[in-house]
Amino acid sequence: MIEKKQAGEYAVRYIKEGMTIGLGTGSTVAYTIEKIGALVQQGLSIKGVATSVETEKKAAEFGIPLISFNEAEKIDLTIDGADEIDPQFNGIKGGGGALFREKLVALASDQVLWVADHAKLVQRIGNVPLPVEAASFGWMHTGKLLQDLNLKPVLRKTGEGHPYYTDNGNVIFDLNTGPVENPEAMAAEIIQIPGVIEHGLFLRHPDTVITGVNGSVVIRDR
Ligand code: A5P
Repeated sequence: MIEKKQAGEYAVRYIKEGMTIGLGTGSTVAYTIEKIGALVQQGLSIKGVATSVETEKKAAEFGIPLISFNEAEKIDLTIDGADEIDPQFNGIKGGGGALFREKLVALASDQVLWVADHAKLVQRIGNVPLPVEAASFGWMHTGKLLQDLNLKPVLRKTGEGHPYYTDNGNVIFDLNTGPVENPEAMAAEIIQIPGVIEHGLFLRHPDTVITGVNGSVVIRDR
């Protein structure tokens, strides 16, 4: 927890007056949101674009002014978490189910920062399940197509055993790929499947990764 807090809070140093900030989702960026809220109370003027309903609520709770993604002419900086990050700045995201909005907002951003605890740093991504957002219409068929490619999909479920629905009304398949040798090839294979909305592979993506490591912060620039 302390590493997430250190990384999450450090990221606010990249924020400048007047910026429009993409606000990621998850427990690490929650610390960033709380810190931004404190700065806003002290007079910082920024606008946030939330990547999930969860983040929308958190940002509102801490008094951060929000605009919708459509209202944002441009996004100066996005700060987000990640589930795994390799040395080439490839990552897996979507453990919290927000990958689609996270990807859209990040790709519209001038600068992307990831904040994480050091356990997220891996030599090769794929030890955590790879989330894939799929249309709820005909999800069983989409699941079969993923299975046919031997991607070992598991439909994400709620604690009550119902399908988990994203903020966009879609379902999530968690793929048990194991270590991914060629992330580009896998991304291309998955995205061409009808029914797939987006996947959680973010390739050569963040400009900067901030990790909390043993009581301090390590910054890596791509
Ligand atoms: C949300 O869907 C994810 O992409 C998160 O950004 C990711 O799971 C990181 O979460 P934590 O900061 O909670 O580890």
